[in-house]
Amino acid sequence: MSKVAVVTGANKGIGFAIVKSLAKQYPGTVYLTARNEELGLKAVRELESQGLKVSFHQLDIENLESINRFAKYIKEKHQGLDLLVNNAAIAYKVSDPAPFSEQAKNTIRTNFTATLHLCDALFPLLRPHARVVNVSSRGGMLNIVKDAEFRNKFIKEDLTVKELTSLLDEFVELSRLGKNEHICKSAYGMSKVGLTALTRIQQREFDRDERKDIIVNAACPGFVATDMSSHRGQLTPDQGAETPVYLSLLPEKWTGPKGLLWAEKNVVDWTDLSWTWK
Ligand SMILES: NC(=O)c1ccc[n+]([C@@H]2O[C@H](COP(=O)([O-])OP(=O)(O)OC[C@H]3O[C@@H](n4cnc5c(N)ncnc54)[C@H](OP(=O)(O)O)[C@@H]3O)[C@@H](O)[C@H]2O)c1
Repeated sequence: MSKVAVVTGANKGIGFAIVKSLAKQYPGTVYLTARNEELGLKAVRELESQGLKVSFHQLDIENLESINRFAKYIKEKHQGLDLLVNNAAIAYKVSDPAPFSEQAKNTIRTNFTATLHLCDALFPLLRPHARVVNVSSRGGMLNIVKDAEFRNKFIKEDLTVKELTSLLDEFVELSRLGKNEHICKSAYGMSKVGLTALTRIQQREFDRDERKDIIVNAACPGFVATDMSSHRGQLTPDQGAETPVYLSLLPEKWTGPKGLLWAEKNVVDWTDLSWTWK
């Protein structure tokens, strides 16, 4: 049976580069998805002009109708899914005049909540040996959460998705009240703290699943020149795609690290409180 891979937010940037790399080596159908159909089809045509064949489907991870339409389509056409790369995300520019409360609400909604909604819809379709890659960031290392009591809740061994969602809701509420500073000053960073914490929980749940060998990891692509970074990153999107693609292609019956944050194809200790950018 031919495999099926899906990449979100893939009309440009790192998502596009992940699709390009998978199109060259994934043993099955690769879906480039995008919330804007026109931009998505343009990206597909660009790959075709390079001799690469991928499929397209519209997918806005913030829109439950779009998510459900896509999940139904994958179920009917392929009966299952073998790779999901959760790449779609937003980040406000430092210069953006939007109030922090709004930035926090929107960033958590897209990068954490919407990703979670997509997982809820697509995880039931994952087949044994499926791989999931959550594109996270070292901008969301645990030590950006300054309050020790709040921080420790993210690493509780038996943390549930519901508890994690409440923590992020609390951050959004504190931001609304202008009382977030002692917890965390970065909306984007907090969204990625949430995504990396979610990855650990998801792996714990896969380990109990009757479908064997489903592996999820979080990946930091590095500082990449894309629209998100205002093209200031020193890596190309193709370089940024390397770790997510590596984790996408982890071999069957993988016994190595899982449920963790990776960068440059190595595990990063996300909980290291002394961690700084070198
Ligand atoms: N660039 C970096 O240095 C860097 C560093 C660490 C982590 N990352 C992570 O890498 C991933 C890709 O980032 P990038 O740099 O390639 O950013 P980008 O160039 O801004 O691309 C982001 C992609 O996500 C899509 N997207 C946003 N909201 C969406 C939604 N609701 N539904 C579907 N797609 C949506 C965008 O679609 P539109 O074109 O329609 O807006 C775009 O295709 C993100 O998870 C980001 O947080 C990036």
